[in-house]
Amino acid sequence: MLYALVPLLLLLHEGLALDNGLALTPPMGWMSWQRFRCITDCDTYPDECISEQLFSRHADLLVSEGYAAAGYEYVIIDDCWLEKERDQKTNKLVPDRNRFPRGLNVLADHIHNKGLKFGLYQDYGTNTCAGYPGVINHMELDAQTFANWDVDYVKLDGCYANVSDMALGYPEFGRLLNSTGRPMVYSCSWPAYQSELNELPDFESLKKHCNLWRNWDDIDDSLESVMQIMDYFGKNQESMQQHGGPGHWNDPDMLILGNYGLSYDQSKLQMAIWAVLAAPLIMSNDLAYVRPEIKEILQNRDVIAVNQDPLGIQGRRLLLKNDIEVWRRPITPQTDGNEYSYAVAFVSRRTDGAPYSIKFTLKELSLKNKNGYAVKDLFDSNTNLGVFQSESYFSTRVIPNGVNFYKFTAL
Ligand code: GLA
Repeated sequence: MLYALVPLLLLLHEGLALDNGLALTPPMGWMSWQRFRCITDCDTYPDECISEQLFSRHADLLVSEGYAAAGYEYVIIDDCWLEKERDQKTNKLVPDRNRFPRGLNVLADHIHNKGLKFGLYQDYGTNTCAGYPGVINHMELDAQTFANWDVDYVKLDGCYANVSDMALGYPEFGRLLNSTGRPMVYSCSWPAYQSELNELPDFESLKKHCNLWRNWDDIDDSLESVMQIMDYFGKNQESMQQHGGPGHWNDPDMLILGNYGLSYDQSKLQMAIWAVLAAPLIMSNDLAYVRPEIKEILQNRDVIAVNQDPLGIQGRRLLLKNDIEVWRRPITPQTDGNEYSYAVAFVSRRTDGAPYSIKFTLKELSLKNKNGYAVKDLFDSNTNLGVFQSESYFSTRVIPNGVNFYKFTAL
C-alpha cells in the first residue's frame, strides 16, 4: 500500500512545489534596465545610477504619481547591483558597497512600507550579462539570501551559461526559491537563450517551474524593436500562445513608454499589443519625467483591465494584410452561452501618410455572438460606438504606425 502511494506522493509534491500561487494575472511594475542600464557612476549621474536612491525614488513615484493605484506593484533591480566579488568568508552575494551602502533590507523595507513589492535580478551562469557574479555554483545559498533580503520577485537571466544545462538549472533554482518558504515570483530567461539557437522552448517545463519567461531578444528604445517583438510573437503564436495563462506568462519584455523612442501614438501601440498579449507590464523609464499624456496611457484603466483580464487568455494576431494587422484577445464578460467578449487592436504599419481605412464584418473577425456586441474605444472612455451584429460592418481609420483599440462586449 505504502509503495503504491510513493509515486502519487512524489507527483503531489512536484505539483505543490511548483504551484506558488503567484502572478495569477500578469505582473505589473517597474524595472531599471531599459532606461538606466548599467550606469554605475553616481558622482556624474547621481539621479540615474543603479543605487538605493534610484529604487527608493521610484517606489515613491509609483505611489505619488498614481501608478500603484493603477496596479503597478513590483520595483525590480536589474543588473549591476552587485560587488564584483562574493564575500570571501561566507561566499554570499554582496550589493555594491557604495551604491547600496545600507544593504538591501533597508531598501526592501522602504518598498514594502509603500505597499509595493521588491524584485531582484540574477543570472543562472557564472556571471550576469554585465559581468557580475552569477548563481551557478551557489544556488542554494543565493536563494536563501534572496529570501533573507525579503525579495518578492526574481528575474534569472542566462548569460555565461550553457543553454543545455538550463533544462535542469532553471527548475532547480525555482525549487530552491520555493523551499525557502518565501513566495517569490520567478521570471526565467531560459527560452530567450534557446531562441538564439533556434531551439524550441520546453513550455511544459516553463509552465511548471516559472511564473513568466522572456521568450526572445531584448527590447530597445524604438518602434522598430517593438515591431520586431510583435513579429516574433505573431509568427510563433501557434507554439506559444496557449502556454500563457494564470501563474505562467509569456514575456515580450519591458514597456518602453515614457522614454525617448516612441511617439504618443506609438506608445498607445505598445500598450495595446502588450494588453492583447497578456504581457507582464513592467515599465522601464524615469517616472519623474514621464509626460502627462504618456502617463495617461500607462495608467489607462480600460487597457490595464484587458491586460489583467481574469481569464488570462493570451491574444493572437488574427490578420496581416497590406501592412495592416488585427490582434484579438478573448476577455470577460462571457455570455451565458459562454461566448467571450474581445479586445481588438487594429494596427497600421503603413507610412503612406493618410489614415488607412479598414472595414470588416464582425464575422470576418470571428466575432459571432448571436446578440451582437457593444463596442467601446479603449483609448477614449467617452466613446461608445454602439451595438454591432456579426453581419455588421465595422470600419475604422488607423494613422501610420498607429493603433485603434476596442472592446467588443458580448451581449
Ligand atoms: C540581458 C537581459 C536584459 C537585462 C540585461 C542586463 O540582456 O535580457 O533584460 O537584464 O541582460 O545585463
